[in-house]
Amino acid sequence: MNTSADAARCTPLVLGVLISGSGTNLQAIIDRIAEGQLPAKIAVVISNVASAKGLDRARRAEIPTVVLDHKAFPSRAAFDEKMVETLRAHDVECVVLAGFMRIVTKVLLDAFPYRVINIHPSLLPAFPGVNAQAQAVAYGVRISGCTAHFVDAGTDTGPVIAQRSVDVFERDDEESLRKRILREEHVLLPAVLGWIARGWLEVDTSGGGRPRVRLNPSNP
Ligand code: GAR
Repeated sequence: MNTSADAARCTPLVLGVLISGSGTNLQAIIDRIAEGQLPAKIAVVISNVASAKGLDRARRAEIPTVVLDHKAFPSRAAFDEKMVETLRAHDVECVVLAGFMRIVTKVLLDAFPYRVINIHPSLLPAFPGVNAQAQAVAYGVRISGCTAHFVDAGTDTGPVIAQRSVDVFERDDEESLRKRILREEHVLLPAVLGWIARGWLEVDTSGGGRPRVRLNPSNP
């Protein structure tokens, strides 16, 4: 699974990556693509923060960047309309929220159904929202981790694709836990994008309850 031979066999998935900060998850995606492990191409990186370090990572990799300051828009929907326009202008097929600290609306979700992926630094449904690592330390859990999920209209409530766990130790603080979880995010997110690129993810919405995501590596 996830070999460069697989990558050579399929058309690259066209990604739009949304960031707000340091962009280490973006970097992991860039690196896996460069190594031939992930059959994808990043067509554009959009940041809502002009000073986001992740923009430098994109520029170094010669990926087009766009800054859209959410404060310049009258509403979340208007901001998302501009994002959709920008993503479409770059022929994006799949949108990745890689440390994008804004809630997205139906405008974006309807434009990319089951094609908006988020990485979150906890084992959802535990600790949604901001400061998930601090929430985990404060609660005193002994296992935490990260979750890759499809985004829906709620905050970190969309169908889970995959998770990776980490131990939480007595000595941990928010920062040490953040670093340990981040290492797992850098494995999980590119792996999940690889499954999508290869057509291996199926979403079953037939049950009437929460949609179920299945990994089916036998898909062509
Ligand atoms: C990551 O830990 C990501 O899971 C988190 O922001 C960090 C971004 O790091 N996202 C959220 O908390 C979203 N609710 P990065 O900019 O270095 O990739």
